[in-house]
Amino acid sequence: MPSTDHSPAPGEPVLVLLTAGPGGAPTPRLADPAAPHLTVTDQGATRGDGLFETALAVADASGVFAMRKPGAHLGRLAASAAALLLPVPEAPVWEEAIAAGLAAYADANEVAEGDRLAVRLTVTRGPEVGPGEPPRPSAWVLLSPAARPDPAERRAGVRVLLLDRGLDSTVAERAPWLLTGAKTLSYAVNMAALRHARAHGADDVVFTSADGYLLEGPTSTLLISRRGADSARRLVTPLRQKGILAGTSQSVIFAAAQAEGWALGYGPLVPADLEGADGLWLVSSVRGVLPIRAVDGREVPVDQELTELLQGWLDADVDPGDHLTGDPVRDEH
Ligand SMILES: Cc1ncc(COP(=O)(O)O)c(C=O)c1O
Repeated sequence: MPSTDHSPAPGEPVLVLLTAGPGGAPTPRLADPAAPHLTVTDQGATRGDGLFETALAVADASGVFAMRKPGAHLGRLAASAAALLLPVPEAPVWEEAIAAGLAAYADANEVAEGDRLAVRLTVTRGPEVGPGEPPRPSAWVLLSPAARPDPAERRAGVRVLLLDRGLDSTVAERAPWLLTGAKTLSYAVNMAALRHARAHGADDVVFTSADGYLLEGPTSTLLISRRGADSARRLVTPLRQKGILAGTSQSVIFAAAQAEGWALGYGPLVPADLEGADGLWLVSSVRGVLPIRAVDGREVPVDQELTELLQGWLDADVDPGDHLTGDPVRDEH
């Protein structure tokens, strides 16, 4: 049982702090999300030095919340931590904190089947410490009510701009300190790209590399469906080695598609690969599967049935297996 400084009110986000206890092992503690908890020297705030994960939890018919693909999110959190050389709590500590937060939210609220929570795990490098002192990372879980998917938004789709991220596609190997495949707190560039898109008549973004490859959205993974020469359906996504985040939603959708006999492919992909597709989507844990309806102002086909199929695969929450870690299949298009 976590210790409690706070009883959540109905509708309020639930905060679980992972505060270092005696001996240094972090223990979960329910705390007031509206109260201050970080110092002004926290390097998450001063340098964007830290990492996060955002997952979705959905309530079942008995009003019990379960977080989707916990192993995938905790695995990616550990990979981001390794890239940042950031000491983070072990998976069982996160699991305990998440379970405590989900239970606290359910206790404080009338929960209906299908209610959703965005579960955000964050670790920062913590306050500046003196030379020789051990680091004191700050870690917490914040659970916030999330809107149910909007069928109208899913039907309408999003207009995207292709925006140059300014880094070439070899950067992940050449300059690992740029942390391109890690989910770091430094998302100011991603948010600026979204604002740029909105100021120019679009809703979202697909980044391209300086040498012309398709990468990812600022908060999502790109999926493309098309038919091969044999007219079999193929689901394709950019090659992760080009410096993008390994999407957990993409990996679950790929595992389900493979079980249904679809051919799969990992890029490399270029903007010309967006032509002639049966469908293009941005996928992510909380927003789900969003069809793209225009690229740089040019309309592209939106296939509602395919969108529902992909969303159903994401909701089925199958084990992503080896689609999580690597690029097990290459596209031979
Ligand atoms: C840059 C980036 N790519 C892809 C994704 C999608 O990841 P997931 O499907 O694991 O939510 C995200 C999620 O926020 C992201 O920030």
